[in-house]
Amino acid sequence: MNQHATPSSVYSIVLIAITMAAIVSLFLVPSSAKSSSPSSLSSSAEAKALLNSDWWGNFSSINHCDLAGIVCNGAGSVNRMESFLSYPYSRLESMNWSSLPNLEYIDLSDCGLTGGIPNEIGTLSKLTHLNFSLNHGLTEGVLPPTLGNLSQLVHLDISETNIKGPIPSSISNLSRLAKLFLHSNLLDGFIPREIGRLKNLVELNLSLNYLVGSIPKSIGNLTALTRLSLSSNRLTGCIPPEISKLKNLVELNLFSNHLDGPIPPSIGNLSALTYLFLSSNNLNHSIPIEIGNLKKLVGMELDSNYLRGPIPHEIGKLKNLGELSLFGNNLHGPIPPSIGNLTDLTYLYLFSNKLDGSIPASIGHLSSLSYLDISLNQLNGPIPSEIGELKSLIKVWMDHNKLQGPIPQEIGNLACLTDLDLNDNLLASHIPLSIGVLKNLERLSLSTNFLNGYIPRQLGRLCNLEYVNLARNDLKGTIPGELKYLPKLKYLDLSHNNLFGKIPDCLCLVGNFSLSYNPQLESQIPNRSRNECYEVCNQANYCSSGFPSEVDTKKRTMILALVLSLLGIAFLSFLGFVVCFCFCKSRTIQSEATGTNHGDICCIWNYDGRIAYEDIINATNDFDIRYCIGTGGYGSVYRAQLPSGKVVALKKLHRLEAEDPTFDHCFRNEVQMLTNVRHKNIVKLYGFCLHNRCMFLVYEYMEKGSLFCALRFNAEASEIGWIKRVNIVKATAHALSYLHHDCTPPIVHRDISSNNILLNSQLEAFVADFGTARLLNPDSSNQTVIAGTYGYIAPELAYTMVVTEKCDVYSFGVVALETIMGKHPGDILSSLRSLPRENMMITDILDPRLPPPTNPIVAGNIVLVAKMAFACLCPEPRSRPTMLRLSQEFLSHKKALAAPLATISLLQLLK
Ligand SMILES: *[C@@H]1O[C@H](CO)[C@@H](O)[C@H](O)[C@H]1NC(C)=O
Ligand SMILES: *[C@@H]1O[C@H](CO)[C@@H](O)[C@H](O)[C@H]1NC(C)=O
Ligand SMILES: *[C@@H]1O[C@H](CO)[C@@H](O)[C@H](O)[C@H]1NC(C)=O
Ligand SMILES: *[C@@H]1O[C@H](CO)[C@@H](O)[C@H](O)[C@H]1NC(C)=O
Ligand SMILES: *[C@@H]1O[C@H](CO)[C@@H](O)[C@H](O)[C@H]1NC(C)=O
Ligand SMILES: *[C@@H]1O[C@H](CO)[C@@H](O)[C@H](O)[C@H]1NC(C)=O
Ligand SMILES: *[C@@H]1O[C@H](CO)[C@@H](O)[C@H](O)[C@H]1NC(C)=O
Ligand SMILES: *[C@@H]1O[C@H](CO)[C@@H](O)[C@H](O)[C@H]1NC(C)=O
Repeated sequence: MNQHATPSSVYSIVLIAITMAAIVSLFLVPSSAKSSSPSSLSSSAEAKALLNSDWWGNFSSINHCDLAGIVCNGAGSVNRMESFLSYPYSRLESMNWSSLPNLEYIDLSDCGLTGGIPNEIGTLSKLTHLNFSLNHGLTEGVLPPTLGNLSQLVHLDISETNIKGPIPSSISNLSRLAKLFLHSNLLDGFIPREIGRLKNLVELNLSLNYLVGSIPKSIGNLTALTRLSLSSNRLTGCIPPEISKLKNLVELNLFSNHLDGPIPPSIGNLSALTYLFLSSNNLNHSIPIEIGNLKKLVGMELDSNYLRGPIPHEIGKLKNLGELSLFGNNLHGPIPPSIGNLTDLTYLYLFSNKLDGSIPASIGHLSSLSYLDISLNQLNGPIPSEIGELKSLIKVWMDHNKLQGPIPQEIGNLACLTDLDLNDNLLASHIPLSIGVLKNLERLSLSTNFLNGYIPRQLGRLCNLEYVNLARNDLKGTIPGELKYLPKLKYLDLSHNNLFGKIPDCLCLVGNFSLSYNPQLESQIPNRSRNECYEVCNQANYCSSGFPSEVDTKKRTMILALVLSLLGIAFLSFLGFVVCFCFCKSRTIQSEATGTNHGDICCIWNYDGRIAYEDIINATNDFDIRYCIGTGGYGSVYRAQLPSGKVVALKKLHRLEAEDPTFDHCFRNEVQMLTNVRHKNIVKLYGFCLHNRCMFLVYEYMEKGSLFCALRFNAEASEIGWIKRVNIVKATAHALSYLHHDCTPPIVHRDISSNNILLNSQLEAFVADFGTARLLNPDSSNQTVIAGTYGYIAPELAYTMVVTEKCDVYSFGVVALETIMGKHPGDILSSLRSLPRENMMITDILDPRLPPPTNPIVAGNIVLVAKMAFACLCPEPRSRPTMLRLSQEFLSHKKALAAPLATISLLQLLK
């Protein structure tokens, strides 16, 4: 036998053995002292049921009571079944439930079970706790009426499983039930009238289904209820006044339905209520004054309805209110001065109503206020100078009103302000110089007013400014040259004024600028070369914060020189890679051949330090499972803190796969691609290590892990607000546009999924995992193996093997929808293939864990994301947009949404 083949095959055998042992130990609790004889156990019906289910594989030599997740009682009978990791595609019905009569507790949440819920579950007469939640594969299931036989049941949780069908009325037999969670499924039909019999119910959550009909009056009999959530269904009719009998109710959540009629005045009896969410319905009449009795209220959202009449004065009694959202109604009359009593208020959203009168000076008492949006009303009078007392303000939107007088000087006290929108008012006088101290300002919109005087030079100090619109005023004087040093400025509109003099040179660096309709402005744009401009700006370094981070496509040509030099570096690194790789390879082979201790070679060329193989082994305690942060298609990912303190991610290829020539090929492919690819939204590769025992890649570490995980866990998902989500989609689009259109030959990623979008500590997105990517060159484009992640693969790959950029576009569409929906858009994808659900509104699909977007610009961006995503999901590849177009669309879009978000249907977006 070949001399050097022997040790390596011995290694593989040892490794296979170790891997098998590891897999077995993952599923099985280590055998305890009671090692009874297998033959006597296999005779028991219970053991047989567990073995035949195949959930644990073939465990014939292990006591069934020792299986992972199984707890037996003293008599050796199965008493509890707790979450464990089942074999992939294990079906819930393959367990013979009628053989397990002593089960009292089942928590099989998040076990990866598929199939449906069998009728036999109803035979478990001792069951008190049943939790099948988060098994998203129960798509064949309905709720079996036999559930009603589980008379001892206290907790029933079948949420987030994708079961369908109606809620059986037999469920009302569960007289001990305290928690009933059926949310996030595909349930349809009515809420059974008999539900009122569940006298002991404390929490009821049926949200995010397709339930129709009205809310049964009998709900008023559930007097123990503290949380009631029926949101995001298709419920119609009125809110039953009987709801006022729920004296213990703490949270009432009915948003996003088709409820109409008034808010019942008796709602004022719910004295324990802390959250009231009724937004996105068709509620009309005025807001009842009894709402003032809800003294414990912390959040109240009544937005996006047809409420009319005034905002009641009594609202001032809600001293604990932190969020008040009344936008998108037909409210008129003034903002009541009593609003000044709400000193805990953080969010105040009154936009898109018909409010008039002036802004009450008492608003100055809202010392906790961070977000103030009273835009799109008919407010008049001056902006009260008391606004300067609101030191916590971050965003102020007062645009599209009839506000008069000057912008108060006190605005300069708002040190945290990032957005100031006062456009489309009747404001006069000059722009106060105090604006020049708002260091955090990113967006300044004062257009369409009667402002006069000069543009303050101090604006040039606001280094975070991205958007400045002073158009359509009476501004005079010259354009301050300082503006061109603003490193982040992407939009500058000074049109329709009376500016005069020269246009400062290098203003052309601002991506999108307009100076038109300034009759006395010298029309000549200075003819300095763009490269010179970059030199000038770089040196001046007025803001000392470097260059625009997001490169506008329009500026691409300008930075050609920069790109060329980067390409030069990339090419050198590529050479480095080739040399390095060959060097490593030959040394590895050499060391194998000589039989000396094996090559531990790291090739690190894209990193400002040295990484030794020993450092990595030390940092991960020889790839101890504790340092494993995820497992992907090709290997496991570990977190390693190097002696320098720097943290890197290691992708260790499973040895069995690494020995497979196609995986070896993928590995090299990935290394080669990533070396050449440099984009701010693509994960950086520092290098790789090859070793006899393993091969791994060394990457930039992304603190927040994958988008998939971030969306999956509620705590993390609610941290990623709408703006961040839109930015994640945008960043992904820019990265893919770069791969498709700026790399020659183009690179098709082939496995875009939420698993491959990683997030850093700022929750910015980076595209990762080029394991299956390949250079799309004409002569190899027809030989491909299906790669990609189920649920993201373009439909044409089912009948053609040709992978094009349009496959990535499709997958991007899925990820974009997933990002705003908070979950994989499975059912929407299938309904796209037939006719989309009529009546389905965009607000019906948005992630319900976030409060609905309130800022019209953010809402506009979300609509754009949804619209683009649907275009990407077009079954016909040629009809899908290119990533370049998507990327440009995202760069240019700044429009606020004209109509309320809740009025936009998915059908509209498909046009
Ligand atoms: C399970 O394992 C036992 C012992 O190794 C073997 O005899 C039996 O055939 C296996 N059963 C199945 C279904 O694979
Ligand atoms: C399930 O278990 C019951 C009781 O042990 C038995 O009578 C029945 O035959 C089993 N069914 C199947 C399909 O194995
Ligand atoms: C069911 O399991 C999930 C996930 O483990 C958990 O979050 C949920 O609270 C459980 N439901 C009940 C009613 O205990
Ligand atoms: C169980 O439930 C079904 C359907 O609700 C019913 O027909 C059946 O009689 C019940 N069985 C027992 C034993 O209660
Ligand atoms: C339950 O609610 C219905 C409808 O409101 C009512 O007619 C009935 O009397 C209530 N039953 C009990 C036991 O309270
Ligand atoms: C609230 O504010 C109004 C007007 O500013 C004031 O008259 C009233 O006393 C305050 N208190 C309550 C409880 O409304
Ligand atoms: C790894 O850790 C051990 C024990 O802490 C130490 O002796 C050894 O020098 C370390 N090796 C490297 C390369 O840092
Ligand atoms: C691609 O397909 C053409 C025509 O079917 C064939 O001649 C060619 O060899 C294929 N290329 C590769 C690399 O398989």
